[in-house]
Amino acid sequence: MERRSGKELRELFLKFFEEKGCKRYHSFSLVPDDPTLLFTIAGMVPFKPYFLGLKKPEVTRATTAQKCVRTNDIENVGHTARHHTFFEMLGNFSFGDYFKEEIIPWAWEFLTERVGLDPNRLYATVYLDDDEAFDIWHEKVGLPKERIFRLGEDDNFWAAGPVGPCGPCSEIIYDQGEEFSCGKPSCNVGCDCDRYLEIWNLVFMQYNRDKEGKLTPLPKKNIDTGMGLERLASVVQGAPNDFETDLFRPIMEKACELVNVKYGEDPKKDMAVKIISDHIRASAFMIADGVLPTNDGTGYVLRRLIRRSVRFGRLLGIERPFLTELLPVVRQSIGDEYHELVEQASAIEQVLSTEEERFSRTLSQGSELMYSEIEKLEAAGKKELPGDVAFVLYDTFGFPLELTEEMCEERGISVDEEGFEGAMEAQRERARAASRQTSSVMSKSVYTELADRLAPSPFCGYEKTSCEASVEAIIVDGASVDSVAAGAEAELVLSDTPFYGEKGGQVGDKGTITAEGATFEVEDTLYPAPDLIIHRGKVTSGAVKLGDVVDACVDEKRRAEIRRHHTATHLLHEALTRVLGKHVRQAGSIVTPTFLRFDFNHFAPVTIDELREVERIVYGQVLKNAPVVTTVMALEDAKKSGARALFEEKYGDRVRVVSVQDFSTELCGGTHVRNTGEIGLVKIVREEGIGSGIRRITAVAGSSSLPLFQSYGAAVAMAVTMFGGDVESLQSKLEAMLDEKKVLERKNRELQVRAAMSDIENSVRPCASEGGVELIIEKFDNVTPDLLRQIGDRIRQKYPHAVTLLAGVGEEKRVMLTAMASPETVKLGANAGQLIKAVAAEMGGKGGGSPALAQGGAQSSDKLDKAFAAAPAIFKELMAKKK
Ligand code: ALA
Repeated sequence: MERRSGKELRELFLKFFEEKGCKRYHSFSLVPDDPTLLFTIAGMVPFKPYFLGLKKPEVTRATTAQKCVRTNDIENVGHTARHHTFFEMLGNFSFGDYFKEEIIPWAWEFLTERVGLDPNRLYATVYLDDDEAFDIWHEKVGLPKERIFRLGEDDNFWAAGPVGPCGPCSEIIYDQGEEFSCGKPSCNVGCDCDRYLEIWNLVFMQYNRDKEGKLTPLPKKNIDTGMGLERLASVVQGAPNDFETDLFRPIMEKACELVNVKYGEDPKKDMAVKIISDHIRASAFMIADGVLPTNDGTGYVLRRLIRRSVRFGRLLGIERPFLTELLPVVRQSIGDEYHELVEQASAIEQVLSTEEERFSRTLSQGSELMYSEIEKLEAAGKKELPGDVAFVLYDTFGFPLELTEEMCEERGISVDEEGFEGAMEAQRERARAASRQTSSVMSKSVYTELADRLAPSPFCGYEKTSCEASVEAIIVDGASVDSVAAGAEAELVLSDTPFYGEKGGQVGDKGTITAEGATFEVEDTLYPAPDLIIHRGKVTSGAVKLGDVVDACVDEKRRAEIRRHHTATHLLHEALTRVLGKHVRQAGSIVTPTFLRFDFNHFAPVTIDELREVERIVYGQVLKNAPVVTTVMALEDAKKSGARALFEEKYGDRVRVVSVQDFSTELCGGTHVRNTGEIGLVKIVREEGIGSGIRRITAVAGSSSLPLFQSYGAAVAMAVTMFGGDVESLQSKLEAMLDEKKVLERKNRELQVRAAMSDIENSVRPCASEGGVELIIEKFDNVTPDLLRQIGDRIRQKYPHAVTLLAGVGEEKRVMLTAMASPETVKLGANAGQLIKAVAAEMGGKGGGSPALAQGGAQSSDKLDKAFAAAPAIFKELMAKKK
């Protein structure tokens, strides 16, 4: 067998399938356009709509080397020969075109004839009752029956997830030889050890599995195959594990060099180096595809990988930031296939170093805390780290829960996950309460109890802003009551409501609920439990009783402003994606009647030009007066229509889709304008960073834009009146003024120096004399060290036979000292260094230097006068000693 590099094998595979009529596609993004998956986990993911028959492919045969990330067994990485988070999957796909008859012999041809694997070491597995595949292996390929194994669902049925396209599969197994065996008598094809290596999975994609697990045949029979490039390379290169193939070697070598490890000497250290080498590839690729470290979704996975690498680096003794130093070798090993690593090199480096630094700052403190807690546990004979400790580690020190668990496991300690979740939920609750600034003592259970007891509150507020309803529940101070009278604060639940409860960033509605003879002012509307809408407010007249028939009226004007800001948020989101790039994803939002706030990931501040372009695009949509249409549809259909969804969000089967015609489509439960023209002018008022790689835009729309422009206009008009000229010349006028200010400040400093100098000429006198050398001591307030030195020089010129000791008192009474002695006086025995040392000591300070020039200082000027009074005697003593 010819020894081939990873790059050669990748090319060999893609070429082979091109010959078989497959179109070669470049790898698709690691972040799929698929709300059911965080990452692309297999080559077939980007093709899912074609398998399901939802979209018509442009070709019926395709082949790729696809970037993939699987994180379900992160803990195994480095421990085994072949687990990775990031890997490349060589795949070929048939959309209703070739099937088993073709792919099985082709796979055999590729492995035995092109790659040159020894046919005697190859085995095949098929699904239990798949006689068809069995026969093709036996009759068409000629594989002896005893080398074909029938295995069950675990091994030979493949699906990308619990629902979606799936099918029976056939795997090709390579026997690495006895030395790789676990040694058990039962070790055979299907054994989990390293001997019988699964190298290629051929999936006969012919079913769709629904939520109940029911299989329905797909419109057409398809093929999906996947072979891990790293694994193939390890077989072809005779490497005992994937990390010793050429795909990893440069990274491993650099990692070893950085952490000063000799590979192969200590399995524990090897493992850490493997983990770092694996994680750096995954991190670099994720960042290149727009993922940024955050606390949820894909961003959390990235954060975990980076923090894990930093920690393993520390375990190997490297204290300084090191991850970015691995990037050049990552690019060298794989960058010529994946140009994004080169194109995004600076973004990758920036994100990685920021996150590494951020974590490094707290890692040692956090570890210390954890180990001291562990010691306490051990002393008490306990084996579980309390959830609140894990939470402090997470919240204050940035330890992903899994990292805490891993570090604890090394000491045989488990983590109370439930307690952790509880602490997390409690914090969320606190944050919610704080953000609303209510003093509610309501426990969650009141709401849960109500949600269980009552029918779901129907929401009719998409169509109308008022309706008739009955009062279903009244809550006062956390307890259900039958009635509530004027003056009291309460929460009402209605049988039907047009009030929108705060959700998805959109604030709750305000308005009025009126019963006969009673009025209730709604100050906020909330969604405290699924399907439960509560109206929080105050009874302003009469009394509201359970069962009352009421008119529920939303503050229509306020709601209209909220609608404007909400649709504006969608326009902004789409415009940002168009201007900044596809990596832009919503990280949070707030929609209010007076402003909107939109958080998203982007690695650099958005420039003024970019912001202007975003505003221009948004305004273009407003001027088009495009219809905004909302439809409720199946999640699948929504995805098919390309609707934007949030990864972290869990969606039900039926979803609401909000579309601005020909512009944007998003899954959204909020309320929106009917036509974009209603929004009015949208103006971005602020752009800022709010954490690693997350930017925040604040903007106003609708009625809030006009006052903003009026106040901008007034400010400019006032400036024009003050500075003269007109709007156009304002900037140059201000610049000229700032320049002038700088010049004046400089002149002012010069004058100060001169004034201080002239003072000296008149006031300075020697205060002692010994052995032909005079002593001058002087104190100044509010001088810089620089000025003090200049004064010293000046005195030395005037009194060449004097030693000068100067003190300057600066901020917070701090004392700076300078002592100088001319060459003549040094010859006569003067010593500025010794003088300053002794005098500084008198005032509790320090000082020192050469005989000619010395400096010192003290924290406080309290004892300065006393020390200066002692200075002549000290000087004389020092001079006397010299003689
Ligand atoms: N999609 C199949 C797998 O990942 C080929 O194993």
